[in-house]
Amino acid sequence: MAAKMWAGRFSKEVDEKVNDFNSSISFDARMYKNDIEGSVAHATMLGECGIIDLEESKTIIKGLKEILCDIDEGRLQFDPNAEDIHMFVEAELTNRLGATGKRLHTARSRNDQVALDIRLYLRNEIEEIKALVKKLIGVIVTLAEKNLRTVMPGYTHLQRAQPITFAHHVMAYAQMLLRDIGRLDDTYKRMNVLPLGSCALAGTTYPINRERVKELLGFDEVMLNSLDGVSDRDFCIELASAISILMMHLSRFSEEIVLWCSWEFKFIELDDAYATGSSIMPQKKNPDITELVRGKTGRVYGDLNTLLTMMKGLSLAYNKDMQEDKEAIFDAVDTVKLCLSTFIPMLETMRVLPENMRNAAAKGFINATDCADYLVKKGLPFRDAYKITGTLVAKCIEMGVTLETLSLDEYKKLSEIFEEDVYDAISLDTCVMQRKSQGGPAPEAVMEQISYVKEKLNG
Ligand code: ARG
Repeated sequence: MAAKMWAGRFSKEVDEKVNDFNSSISFDARMYKNDIEGSVAHATMLGECGIIDLEESKTIIKGLKEILCDIDEGRLQFDPNAEDIHMFVEAELTNRLGATGKRLHTARSRNDQVALDIRLYLRNEIEEIKALVKKLIGVIVTLAEKNLRTVMPGYTHLQRAQPITFAHHVMAYAQMLLRDIGRLDDTYKRMNVLPLGSCALAGTTYPINRERVKELLGFDEVMLNSLDGVSDRDFCIELASAISILMMHLSRFSEEIVLWCSWEFKFIELDDAYATGSSIMPQKKNPDITELVRGKTGRVYGDLNTLLTMMKGLSLAYNKDMQEDKEAIFDAVDTVKLCLSTFIPMLETMRVLPENMRNAAAKGFINATDCADYLVKKGLPFRDAYKITGTLVAKCIEMGVTLETLSLDEYKKLSEIFEEDVYDAISLDTCVMQRKSQGGPAPEAVMEQISYVKEKLNG
């Protein structure tokens, strides 16, 4: 095992088990690009400020870029014995440059270095997640545009309630996902603040220029308290929260797809490429993807919980507990990206079965509200109309008919107000097409939602 960079104070080598226990390289190596990017900015600033010699700063930057290239191209492997990615890169630089390499860590600590690297890494991940969410919204919008007049039952308590369209139903998810993008944007804003220059916890005596590093790395602001700079992990927790809510949305959508492709509903059919069979039951076509998305939602909630619990008892500033942040937030990010990239093509290839939706809508008296509204429009107070319609529904159930097939004579027995035009008023198409209120299921109202969503997506 190579000697530790901090070996000076110690009279023995660290126990091997402790070394493994302490090491984070197995999971933080993925930040190598960010670590090097941060070091290049730091070295640039050190040279410009005359804290190290300008020529040496250039040599360091060149050396760092070569390391990056060697890792990218597989010429340099991570050393599993290295304590973490920061130590690995610095040790490699020193191997290559000797004394010059040792100057990089001037006016810096791993505490502000790691805080910087995670921010740089997650900034990029947020962009990737957002791009996937936008793609999903695009697929939903296309699905909605094709199904503006696909009548289906709307549910409350999973009981048929009022008629809507499939377009209206899926567009609800587009709205939810737009809010997810908003939350990711908010998270990004608070994440995009520079911690480097906080050093170990108490800043530094060197004349560093944090504004310059901020500019070089594209941050909006500099963190103005060095203790906060190294001990803040709010941005991980915020991102895990935003991802948890996004997963919750995907999970609800998944649950509906599980229901919709059951024989009891049969509103949709999944493409064969996005469903799986059973090892014993030949007839089965299972919606495993959606079940896994639903299941993995719990796992992401677990990541959020890990982060919240890990932070709650920590005194300021850095504590090693915080090394545990990475596996949790990386898992949340990886999981949501994996779910989105499988869910999107599944939804894109899913076949909608409008006939079955319509048949389901035709049962269950989902036009009962419209029947009551018919009476109200002819002058009856709503409560009286409600009661008459309730009695009509009970009569239909008794006679084994629907409101559409009940004879006018039967209607008239309950109220003389009923005329032939009741049949038009309670037809499914009328029920849906007349719900033109803003945000409602009528095609023109859904078109308005679609335009709004499209505008937000492009804006
Ligand atoms: N690997 C460490 C982490 O992820 C880096 C910071 C170590 N700092 C320290 N003072 N030991 O948190």
